[in-house]
Amino acid sequence: MTVAVITGAASGIGAGLARHAASLGMQLILADWDDAALTEVADCLSAEVIAVPTDVRDETQVQSLADAAFDKFGEIDLLFNNAGVLSSGLSWEIDAATWQRSIDINIGGTVNVMRAFVPRLIAADRPARIVNTSSVGGFLTSTFMAPYSATKFAIVAITEAMAGELAAMDSKVQVSLLAPGPVKSAIMDEKAPTQTAEFMTVMRGMNDAHGMTPDEFAPLVFAAIDRGEYWIIPQPEILDTALQERTEMILGRTPPVSFDFTSGDGQ
Ligand SMILES: NC(=O)c1ccc[n+]([C@@H]2O[C@H](COP(=O)([O-])OP(=O)(O)OC[C@H]3O[C@@H](n4cnc5c(N)ncnc54)[C@H](O)[C@@H]3O)[C@@H](O)[C@H]2O)c1
Repeated sequence: MTVAVITGAASGIGAGLARHAASLGMQLILADWDDAALTEVADCLSAEVIAVPTDVRDETQVQSLADAAFDKFGEIDLLFNNAGVLSSGLSWEIDAATWQRSIDINIGGTVNVMRAFVPRLIAADRPARIVNTSSVGGFLTSTFMAPYSATKFAIVAITEAMAGELAAMDSKVQVSLLAPGPVKSAIMDEKAPTQTAEFMTVMRGMNDAHGMTPDEFAPLVFAAIDRGEYWIIPQPEILDTALQERTEMILGRTPPVSFDFTSGDGQ
């Protein structure tokens, strides 16, 4: 029996991963700070599931989540480090609290989960996989979303460091980097400041029109896990050409151009 832990499981991609994992017969530990929505998702699953209200910013709560998971199931096979938030605005006008919130959730939350689970996964000396969620926006900068962009770039860096460290110690624990493109979810629901209100309306519209549903997206993630992939990039068409262009821009020492938010790139 496979046991999976999913943070940010009350909505969007996390809820889709939970539903798909349940359909595969996995046992689940679901975490989110939105207690009511988490219970709703958990109650709809026909699986052995525990829902643990958790704010990933809080190290003590995340340690309690790990305690609950290991106490209940003894072993963990899959850990989805998925909770995240997105704020928009002009980088120099976004207030300090909003910057800090993005850093604390998107980076701090990911690191808290790694710190609580990875030592126990290594000590268990059996195969397990951690899936850290970045974004295609962790490779391509996103104008008007600097806190998101910066924190998702950080997850790419942290996860690569972690992969090297696990390999250096011949651990049976592995890590993957998940970089979603557009997936229909609540990630863009945060109220935008006046300067970026129109931009966010366009972005939401594009996500609604072109995004995958979480239930379409989740099986692609599990298929990549089955193949043992480090880079889990289910929508390569959103990333590959743009990443090539970005790399050439840097190598050619060409300055960044203004972001065309009608093109569907970014996020
Ligand atoms: N939807 C997309 O198009 C897209 C694209 C690229 C990357 N992502 C990433 O996928 C992940 C999931 O996002 P989503 O799109 O499903 O968004 P979502 O808003 O629908 O779900 C995110 C979940 O994380 C939870 N969460 C936020 N802060 C938390 C905290 N401090 N503690 C615990 N839970 C917290 C929210 O309550 C929510 O249930 C995020 O890391 C996001 O950056 C999403």
